[in-house]
Amino acid sequence: MRLFSPAQALAALTLLSTDVVRPQVQALVLDPLSEDSIKDVASKVAGALVAQYADIDEKGIHVLGGYPGILYEPYYWWQAGAMFGTLLDYWHYTGDDQYNEVIREGLIHQFGENLDLMPGNQSKNEGNDDQVFWAFSMIMAAEYKLPDPPGDKPGWLAMTQSVFNQFVGRYNKEVADDVCGGGMRWQIFHWLNGWNYKNTASNGGLFHLGARLAMYTKNDTYAKWAEKAFDWMSQSPLLPGDGTVNDGTDVKTDPPCKDADRNPWTYNYGIMIAGAAYMYNYTNGAEKWKTHLGQFLNKSMMFYPEDKGGVMVEICEANTVCDADQQSFKAYLARWLGVTAQMAPEFAPIIMPRLRTSAVAAAQTCQGPSQHGAGDYLCGEKWYHQGWDGIGGVGTQMTALNVISVLNAERVPPPYSGDTGGTSRGNPGLGTNNHDDRLPKFENEITTGDKAGAAIVTIIVAVLFLGGAWWMLF
Ligand SMILES: *[C@@H]1O[C@H](CO)[C@@H](O)[C@H](O)[C@H]1NC(C)=O
Ligand SMILES: *[C@@H]1O[C@H](CO)[C@@H](O)[C@H](O)[C@H]1NC(C)=O
Ligand SMILES: *[C@@H]1O[C@H](CO)[C@@H](O)[C@H](O)[C@H]1NC(C)=O
Ligand SMILES: *[C@@H]1O[C@H](CO)[C@@H](O)[C@H](O)[C@H]1NC(C)=O
Repeated sequence: MRLFSPAQALAALTLLSTDVVRPQVQALVLDPLSEDSIKDVASKVAGALVAQYADIDEKGIHVLGGYPGILYEPYYWWQAGAMFGTLLDYWHYTGDDQYNEVIREGLIHQFGENLDLMPGNQSKNEGNDDQVFWAFSMIMAAEYKLPDPPGDKPGWLAMTQSVFNQFVGRYNKEVADDVCGGGMRWQIFHWLNGWNYKNTASNGGLFHLGARLAMYTKNDTYAKWAEKAFDWMSQSPLLPGDGTVNDGTDVKTDPPCKDADRNPWTYNYGIMIAGAAYMYNYTNGAEKWKTHLGQFLNKSMMFYPEDKGGVMVEICEANTVCDADQQSFKAYLARWLGVTAQMAPEFAPIIMPRLRTSAVAAAQTCQGPSQHGAGDYLCGEKWYHQGWDGIGGVGTQMTALNVISVLNAERVPPPYSGDTGGTSRGNPGLGTNNHDDRLPKFENEITTGDKAGAAIVTIIVAVLFLGGAWWMLF
């Protein structure tokens, strides 16, 4: 045995001080084929997620953000909405309903004074993508049969319809103004940066919501709108046609909407994959949707690089530059792959192995110390890293919880719809009289900082930090 050189000794010390000094923590070992193992591991990860949102004891729910349905810096409003979706998945896939009242309270509190998912406290910098992530959780609540809100409030279905109708209004305005022939802008308000950007999260959001509303209500108008949004995206640089999903396109180029921001993000793929899967199912297997679904799934293989063991990665992980938003994105790809395995079972054989490999890797990172007394189950950002990588928070916890929970996708009922027992109250007209020119509550206090947009800040980071970093990764 050789003695350590001074440099080696120093390296060993550094390692000790960061990794080994903590008392030995047992890594979570997930058996991806065992229902019990999935439930057990998911429940530990879920505990360490909910503890970051609220203290729950005999005295009730004490939310850490101050009032129900929000988190705190650095987490924007949209991510709280998305977190409730991850927790709904956790319930649906494991049967553990202990957080359902927390979820209901948070969702209902954010309906907004005008029942449009634009609560005054948030609307000053709300974008279409922020709003749609709350709508995704509303339709999930309907599909999973979370008890509807009390009778004096709209049902989950109605709240989804509200956002859908607002989106149709915004889309129609772009058609009337002939800005790129249609397509929604990223922002709702023109004074926010990103107003000139038409992005996939918003337009894919309309496609995806339309497809799920068609499935739930069997009202074909929703499917027609889903197809219309998809076809517009297909003739724009957002969807070049080979399964690639770009992030967005600028309306100020000549001609407008000429180029795309090509940075690939897991959640954009997830939105399109699940939307196509719902349309595939709704149309009883139309060739158009089967082809698109297959292409999206094939392209999304880029997120599972072989040199990372085939484990799901987000591009920004390469240089550890993922912001708080981006740290949650893998949750949505995982979530929507789970539902795709249900809605388009013939694709399950290519989906489930990717999820299993990723979930096992994610689980073994969950050994960080929870600051909220929920055990040493804080999950890391990089799933290919052995053990916890020192990065933890709401986003990383969501990604691990979602990818682990969905492994039960083939064991639970697919999303309910109106004709298979779903009973959420709808209101097809809600949101049709929405006026985006109505000034949000804090309009007169808007600062330059706000103008950067609280909306999911993908382009800014893409331009400043990444600038092609994904070439290095893939
Ligand atoms: C808006 O913020 C206030 C506190 O500033 C809070 O009491 C209220 O519940 C919030 N409303 C919504 C809908 O979040
Ligand atoms: C996806 O990839 C598989 C395997 O390479 C191939 O057989 C299939 O045709 C591809 N699907 C599409 C729609 O391109
Ligand atoms: C639609 O979803 C149901 C429920 O999961 C499934 O049984 C059926 O095979 C799906 N249809 C198609 C065309 O894949
Ligand atoms: C179907 O949806 C459209 C669009 O929201 C709505 O105008 C129409 O009333 C709905 N039809 C039924 C029967 O609910």
